[in-house]
Amino acid sequence: MTAQTEWLIKGLRPLGNDPVDLHVKDGVIAAIGQDLVLDNDIQTLDATGLVGLPGLVDLHTHLREPGREDAETIETGSRAAALGGYTAVHAMANTDPVADTAGVVEQVWNIGRHVGLVDVIPVGAVTTGLKGERLAELGAMADSAARVRVFSDDGICVGDPGLMRRALEYVKAFDGVIAQHAEDARLTGGAQMNEGVLSGKLGLAGWPSVAEESIIARDCLLAQHVGSRLHVCHVSTAGSVELIRWAKSKGINVTAEVTPHHLLLTEDLAESYDPVYKVNPPLRRGEDVDALREALRDGTIDIIATDHAPHAVEDKECEWAYARPGMVGLEQALSIAIMTLSDGNGAVDWESIARVTSIDPARIGQLTEHGQGLMTGAPASFVLVDPAQSQTVDPARLASKGRNTPYAGLELPGKVVATFLRGTPTVLDGKVTK
Ligand code: DOR
Ligand code: ZN
Repeated sequence: MTAQTEWLIKGLRPLGNDPVDLHVKDGVIAAIGQDLVLDNDIQTLDATGLVGLPGLVDLHTHLREPGREDAETIETGSRAAALGGYTAVHAMANTDPVADTAGVVEQVWNIGRHVGLVDVIPVGAVTTGLKGERLAELGAMADSAARVRVFSDDGICVGDPGLMRRALEYVKAFDGVIAQHAEDARLTGGAQMNEGVLSGKLGLAGWPSVAEESIIARDCLLAQHVGSRLHVCHVSTAGSVELIRWAKSKGINVTAEVTPHHLLLTEDLAESYDPVYKVNPPLRRGEDVDALREALRDGTIDIIATDHAPHAVEDKECEWAYARPGMVGLEQALSIAIMTLSDGNGAVDWESIARVTSIDPARIGQLTEHGQGLMTGAPASFVLVDPAQSQTVDPARLASKGRNTPYAGLELPGKVVATFLRGTPTVLDGKVTK
C-alpha cells in the first residue's frame, strides 16, 4: 500500500465522544481503538480535539453543468462540497440540457467521477424537459451506470396530480423516490417573497404558505394511495411541518428536508431589497423558522439539504424582481447545522448532526456507501471538524463560483479540517488536496 491510502488518524472524537484512533486502509476503516500502534511507516494525522462525522451527503445541490458552467461546474461544486465536509452530493436535474435521459445522467456521473472529490449522484427529472407534461425515462435512468434513485423537477412543481401519481407508482419498482418542489404555481404567479404584511409594505408580490402546504397535503395522500415514497424538498412553513407530522403519524412514507437558510434567516431581510435574499421557496417568518428547527430536532423533518443554488453575478446583482432565486450553501451548511443543533450553552448534538446531514440523506438517496458512521469495515468516508474554530464568510474566497451567499461577513462556528472519501483525503488542513 502506498502512504496515501493508509492513514493513522489519532485522537479524533467520533460524534463528539471520547477520543479514539482510526486506521484507514484500502478505502475502509480497518480498525478503531485507543492508542493504536501500527508498526509500518504510514501517514499520521493528529486529530486531537477534532470531531469525526460520517461524510456529509447532500440530497439537493445545483451544479449547473451541463449548460451554465459560468455559474458553477461539477468541479467547482465538488470543491465546495469537499470543503463543506461532503462526500456525496445529489446534482439536481434542472440543467441545460435537463437531466431527463440516461445519457445526461451518465455524463454528469462520469464528470463527477473524473473530478473525484465527492460522489456526484445525478437526480433524474420526473418529466421530460421539466415541462410537467409526460414522464421522463425514469427506468432507463435508474438502470444506467448512474443508478438514479431520486427524481425531481426541482425549481418547478410536478403540478398535475395524475402525472405525480404515475411517477410515484413508477419508482416503486426500484425503491426510488420522488422529491417534490411543493409549489402550486397557480398561487405563486409573479411571487417575489413570502406573502404577508411585509410583502404588502414592500410592494413585492407574495408567495403564500398555502401554495406549498396544499401540494404537500395532496402528495402525502397520493403517496399513501399508491404506497410509494415521497420526499418533500425545502420545507419552509410551520403549516407544512404540521402536515408532514400528520402524514408520518398515519404511516405515510414521506421524508422531508429543510435548507440551512430556512433554518437561520427570516423574511425581513427582504427589506434591504438585496436580491441575495431572494430564494424559492422564500424566507419566511420567525414562527416558521422556530417550527422548522423544532421539526428537525424531533425528526418530523428528516434532513438538512443545502439547495446550493449558485448563480452568475449578472443573474443576482440586479433589481430584485429580475434576480434569480437561490443561495449557495455547501460550504456553510455544517456550521448552520451546528448552530441549529446545539443547546445554547455550547453543547453540540453531534449525533443528530450526523443523522440529518449524512445517515438519513444517504438512506433516502439509497446510497449504501455513505452515511454508515465510523465503524470498523465501513468505507473510510468521513469528515474531521474543529468545533473550536470559526469561519468568517468572504464571498470572494468561496470555492463555489457562486458569490450569492447570504452569510457574507458572518462568523459561523466550526471548521472542516479534513474530508476523506473512501480512504483518500479530499481536504487536508482545510484545503482541497487537488
Ligand atoms: O431558490 C431556488 N433556486 N429554488 C429552487 O427550487 C431552484 C433553485 C435554482 O435552480 O436556482
Ligand atoms: Zn433546488
